[in-house]
Amino acid sequence: MIATANPGRLTVPAVRALSPYVPGKPISELERELGLRDIIKLASNENPWGPSPAALAAMHQELDQVWLYPDGSSHELRHALARHLGIGTEHLALGNGSNELLLLLCEAFLTGAYSAVYSQYGFAIYPLVIRATGARAIAAPALPEGHAMATGHDLSAMAAAIASDTRLVFIANPNNPTGTWVDPQALRQFIAAVPDHLLVVLDEAYLEYGLAQGLQDGMQWIRDFPNLVLLRTFSKAYGLAGIRVGYSVSHPEVADALNRLRPAFNVNSIAQVGAAAALSDQAHMQRCVASTVSELRRMSTQLAALGLHHAPSAANFLMVRAGPRAAQIYHELLKAGLIVRPLGGYGLPEYLRISIGKPAENDRLLQQLARLTGKGS
Ligand SMILES: Cc1ncc(COP(=O)(O)O)c(C=O)c1O
Repeated sequence: MIATANPGRLTVPAVRALSPYVPGKPISELERELGLRDIIKLASNENPWGPSPAALAAMHQELDQVWLYPDGSSHELRHALARHLGIGTEHLALGNGSNELLLLLCEAFLTGAYSAVYSQYGFAIYPLVIRATGARAIAAPALPEGHAMATGHDLSAMAAAIASDTRLVFIANPNNPTGTWVDPQALRQFIAAVPDHLLVVLDEAYLEYGLAQGLQDGMQWIRDFPNLVLLRTFSKAYGLAGIRVGYSVSHPEVADALNRLRPAFNVNSIAQVGAAAALSDQAHMQRCVASTVSELRRMSTQLAALGLHHAPSAANFLMVRAGPRAAQIYHELLKAGLIVRPLGGYGLPEYLRISIGKPAENDRLLQQLARLTGKGS
């Protein structure tokens, strides 16, 4: 029999309705498209300095063992994290990037009968993973134009958006793509005041950059609030985006749910040793963060001199208002071998998100922006 019916029709409606996440353009893709060399990617908020040499050495060494399955419990890494954080391992769940933990949280706590709340310009993965379960994704309006933290999370609006069927609330602090952050006191009050039929997921992917700029982390509250879940990643400050390791810190019962649900070998053996070695080299991570924060400040001043304004940022990127020509500027930058992130998909068509690179990379971007905005010499 020759099958003619499209098997895609069998996809569950919630999945059929999803629009795929559009990541930053890979360097190899631009090379293929435009035949360019010497491309700089400032589009996915990676750490341009890369991981600790100790992490690279550990991963090289682990290659000899790749014919063996990884340790399914990530024993060494879990214990290293527990020691680093000053908590018991029962609070931890590890993921193939924190992205996988977002997915697992939705699978564990949502169905079509529930809803989850996120902020209007919150991380784009949130509505995707919520909707994948058939749950309702409720976007709370962001802080309005004119507010010092415009486009950032409005915690009052988020509290007001919580419904009786809400099971998860996602807060990225600092937030991607805006770079904005929430006041620690207001955040604590928010977590203390939410009803206990939901979990607050505090996504701290950019935490290390935030801490270096005066922000506080959520660890201080983890024992006070059983419904608080922290998400962390090795993809940003630790320079290990390619190996995919993230983790959650939560009440042991939440960690247990995630650990029961996760695929048996979700964190591979190279990733386990790489992340553990990176964690043990805090000095390397701190040097990377210090350089990025210093460059963030320099870029902020230089962009302002070009008449390009940006949202306040406590992360390793700036969300720059490029105006009605934003899409055109994005394409012109591509032609010059510079990949930044257009934000039309976020409903912010006049903005570009620019990750902070090494000083020479940032200089090249500034030169091109000066040319494209007519401010070049
Ligand atoms: C706010 C936020 N959360 C989570 C992630 C996912 O990071 P990963 O899956 O690499 O740990 C990202 C990545 O860009 C992010 O910006």
